[in-house]
Amino acid sequence: MDQTEDSRRRFLRYAALAAGSALTLGACAKASSNVSPQAAAPPEQDHTKPDDEEKEITGTEHLMREHGILRRALIVYGTIASRLRAKPEDVPPDALQKTAKLFRSLGEDYHQRTIEEGILFPKVKQKGGDAAQLVDILIVQHGRGREITDHLLAAAKAAKIGAEAGQLADILDGFVHMYETHAAREDTILFPAWKDALTNSEYDEMSSRFDDLEDDQFGENGFQDAEDEIARIESSLGIADISQFTAPPVPSAT
Ligand SMILES: [Fe+2]
Ligand SMILES: [Fe+2]
Repeated sequence: MDQTEDSRRRFLRYAALAAGSALTLGACAKASSNVSPQAAAPPEQDHTKPDDEEKEITGTEHLMREHGILRRALIVYGTIASRLRAKPEDVPPDALQKTAKLFRSLGEDYHQRTIEEGILFPKVKQKGGDAAQLVDILIVQHGRGREITDHLLAAAKAAKIGAEAGQLADILDGFVHMYETHAAREDTILFPAWKDALTNSEYDEMSSRFDDLEDDQFGENGFQDAEDEIARIESSLGIADISQFTAPPVPSAT
């Protein structure tokens, strides 16, 4: 099957799934509107988990929430890059250093090396197809990212960022641009392909394994600690309030 045909079939499959979900939801809504509350039969079996039971975090949820922290780090890098161009003496090296350290530990050492390169990429490669073709370039980008993080950590050791500010801003922008694209392809192509390559029981096992690996690497509150750290960095730069990112209104026509 050629790539076009493969993509077309994939699209049709997702469209059919989406239509099926919509029909099911529509049917449920219609059924419930025609039945009085008194006449509604109780469910045969209550599968609801007790309220105090911890909710499971699935494999892809683990991956995507890690991407969420890394995307927030990219927003920090983008902010630092613009400030380096405007007023480099006002950029605290501390914010750059903390963000680079977080990207290294959560992003490069754990998410990329342990999870993606250690578990996901071999499985996707073995399965073949469109997603497998992405793996080699994703690994190259991981490597380039590590080189840049080394450079950022070295630059952040200075008390103030001075003469090299413009070059550093370009390096940060390149990193941000690379990882915005990288993470978006992983979210939409690589992660779904990995999930597709597993049976349901294998996927459940992987979800538990990710829980254990995350605990081993970062302790039981690892994700929350990382979220707290990026929130502190955002506060230090004055970008914690999300409302400042709301797009301006469209200018009215004259
Ligand atoms: Fe990656
Ligand atoms: Fe990733």
